[in-house]
Amino acid sequence: MKKTQILSEGYTKVVYDTDDPEVTVIEFKDTVTAFRNIKRATIKGKGRLTCRVSSLIMGYLNSKGLKTHFVKEDGDNGQVCLKVRVIPVRIIMRNAAAGSIVRTFGIPAGTALKHPVVEMTYKNNDLDNPIINRDHADALGIATYQETEAMIETSRKVNSLLCELFASIGVQLVDFKIEFGYTADGTMVITDEISPDTCRFRNMSDGRQMDRDRYRYDQGDIIDTYQELTNRLEKAL
Ligand code: TMP
Repeated sequence: MKKTQILSEGYTKVVYDTDDPEVTVIEFKDTVTAFRNIKRATIKGKGRLTCRVSSLIMGYLNSKGLKTHFVKEDGDNGQVCLKVRVIPVRIIMRNAAAGSIVRTFGIPAGTALKHPVVEMTYKNNDLDNPIINRDHADALGIATYQETEAMIETSRKVNSLLCELFASIGVQLVDFKIEFGYTADGTMVITDEISPDTCRFRNMSDGRQMDRDRYRYDQGDIIDTYQELTNRLEKAL
């Protein structure tokens, strides 16, 4: 299987077409961004670590019977993945208050939520990825009721599995973002990435942040922290 042309390139990943019509190769870049990409940096080794964590998590979800695009790792910062048509919706699952929910509702960061909170945003950078509900999604032709229900149900399962997995390595899963797409045969699968760039993690013993918030809020080095998270996951899986 050989890479051919670039299918798409974002701030943090490049997706390559291959000579196999069913698969792509995704390369994770060393770029890290924050605040709608206004703050940006290149941090050597970051792509390798987000790739590794996402591979471990997607592989774990595959092993638990959830369907993801992940097939196998490809070198240090690449993955062979099923080719998907991305659904332009991001599902956000929250277990405790952090980030935008803190600002929206004026509650202290870290406030426990009585139960997981699901949010949806329309994946559209020009519109700053606005929050939508299932009515918006269906009425605007972004995703049908059936599709949003399926995505939310799977996201809840992912949340349960990952809360348990991360708790076993002493880490609280505060919140995360997840995306979905369709493979050529019409199967809905989890796509994009699940990594410290797309989740919030707190170290249970000292409350230390172990995710992209370290970069967002200048809390120090991210490579050491991402590496520590990777090491703990590798031991657990
Ligand atoms: P938020 O609190 O900023 O809305 O973020 C919620 C979760 O979604 C958090 O785990 C970070 C993740 N996220 C992304 O992965 N990409 C994004 O562009 C944004 C805004 C959030």
